[in-house]
Amino acid sequence: MQSATSPKNLIRLRDLPLQELDLILERARSLKLRPSPNEFAGQTVGLLFFRGSLRTRISLEVAMHQLGGDTIELTAASDFWDLEDREGAVMDGRAPEHVKDAAAVLSRYVDALAVRTAPGARSWDVDRRDDEIATWARYATVPVINMESSLWHPLQALADRMTLKEEFAETAGKRVAVVWVHSPEPASAAVTHSFLDMALRDRMNVSIAHPQGYELDSGVMRGLEEVAAKKGCELRTGLSKEEAVEGADVVYARSWQSLETYGNPTLAASRLSRTNDWMVDRKLLDSGQSARFMHAMPIRRNIEVSDEVLDSAESLVYTQAENRLHAQKALLLHLLKKQA
Ligand code: CP
Repeated sequence: MQSATSPKNLIRLRDLPLQELDLILERARSLKLRPSPNEFAGQTVGLLFFRGSLRTRISLEVAMHQLGGDTIELTAASDFWDLEDREGAVMDGRAPEHVKDAAAVLSRYVDALAVRTAPGARSWDVDRRDDEIATWARYATVPVINMESSLWHPLQALADRMTLKEEFAETAGKRVAVVWVHSPEPASAAVTHSFLDMALRDRMNVSIAHPQGYELDSGVMRGLEEVAAKKGCELRTGLSKEEAVEGADVVYARSWQSLETYGNPTLAASRLSRTNDWMVDRKLLDSGQSARFMHAMPIRRNIEVSDEVLDSAESLVYTQAENRLHAQKALLLHLLKKQA
């Protein structure tokens, strides 16, 4: 289970060149059509959850099982203890074990480690460093797959890319509106960051709508602006939802936390109370250009999006969720170096 060379990790989708990504998705499409090969007999992927999951957990479990392999899931708090991740820490606190040791030991048991980290949610300056997932990748000697960290959710973006490629003969040049939507418990911006990065790399024109105070991380935005400039596509932000959706081919809805009130639940709740009208409804979707509706889920009906939109023919949400399975199978085959 230890490899002589550095393992191939997936921390953000950008770790994979576009050409490699498209080969993975080509394989995912054939896996979607045909029964899976029994490639992973005797192999195990460890799934470590520091936060809950429905789609990521089940789709990875089923992916491995359909490929003839196994998974072992560990959930923080119930299955194991706090882990220290500070380099050089004097470990006299709650955590009895360091990630460095846990990653090294688990690498002796499993063929890949997939990790969903839990941001501390006290300081964005700290969480934006995305240290936890980087620490696992540094100390594991098998491939580490990011199942969602503070900043990135590459598995969701991979499935979203597959979904867009199935929907449109040509995705480059399509107009995508990323619309912030109200939720009593906003998600992290990881899905949004990964989707935006993927869409711009694919030369899609992107418009982002959000209420004042919900601006995305400035460092992430600078990176996205660089991609947009390099690819020659549009990236507009700070728009109203109506401005963003006008003429859009795709409306991607997602809630995310305000970075201005990050770590202050009282202020965050007060700011959130002014955003109840940020929902995708039929009227908004209809201002697009036969726009498809996308959302990574979980989704709050009639808060984030109306039933009418979510249950419409334009909604791709179940296909996005299904494609998690196919895309992840192809990704596992790729990362664990299984040929066709
Ligand atoms: N989209 C997604 O990652 O769903 P889960 O949080 O249920 O895994």
